[in-house]
Amino acid sequence: MRIDIISVLPELIRSPFEASILKRAQQKGIVEVQLHNLKDFGMGKHRQVDDYSFGGNAGMVLRPEPLFECIEFLQSQRSYDAIIYTTPDGRRFDQKAANNLSLLENILVICGHYKGIDQRVRDHFVTHEISIGDYVLSGGELAAAVISDAIIRLIPGVLNDETSALTDSFQDNLLAPPVYTRPAEFRGLDVPEVLTSGHFKKIEDWNHEQALQRTKERRPDLLED
Ligand code: ADE
Repeated sequence: MRIDIISVLPELIRSPFEASILKRAQQKGIVEVQLHNLKDFGMGKHRQVDDYSFGGNAGMVLRPEPLFECIEFLQSQRSYDAIIYTTPDGRRFDQKAANNLSLLENILVICGHYKGIDQRVRDHFVTHEISIGDYVLSGGELAAAVISDAIIRLIPGVLNDETSALTDSFQDNLLAPPVYTRPAEFRGLDVPEVLTSGHFKKIEDWNHEQALQRTKERRPDLLED
């Protein structure tokens, strides 16, 4: 998989891709992530990328010319299966969306900034408008990093068996059960006995029961459909 990310502040999200699982996925050659600075396509001496919005709504908007040029430049090198725009008015991101996107080969992500991007860019290029939650970030960069992380860890070979994505919260509409590690007794606090019993079936049942109970308490909406 290849992910290209267009941003006016690419340095804001360089580090998530240079550590741990995302770094290893790139080193293994399973995924390639490229950040592109929109200012490289900016206009005039000052590499301008934004301007006031027509109609007087306070706040700056990313102009169409640099975005069209940047996107068309990238499209001249490969065709994209999805062109994502990160925006609070997009569709709410969830595990199902991550699963679907993880099957694609080439993804382009456009990070919004300020008051957003000129609508003509959305109309002309964007196939997926995605929000990562009902709150407003300073820009779409952190959303792009969140979406990329959620997608990349699902690609076969990125995680090992121990950290397999199959047992994650949400994969089966259940939150994850509580987890414990050694020591079995710490300051008088004991690990539930069943977990140290070595009885595989009982442990599995216990985990499922705990997951169900947690989901009922914290996210009953997940059990509705
Ligand atoms: N940009 C600003 N806020 C955002 C959000 N909640 N999701 C995606 N992109 C955003």
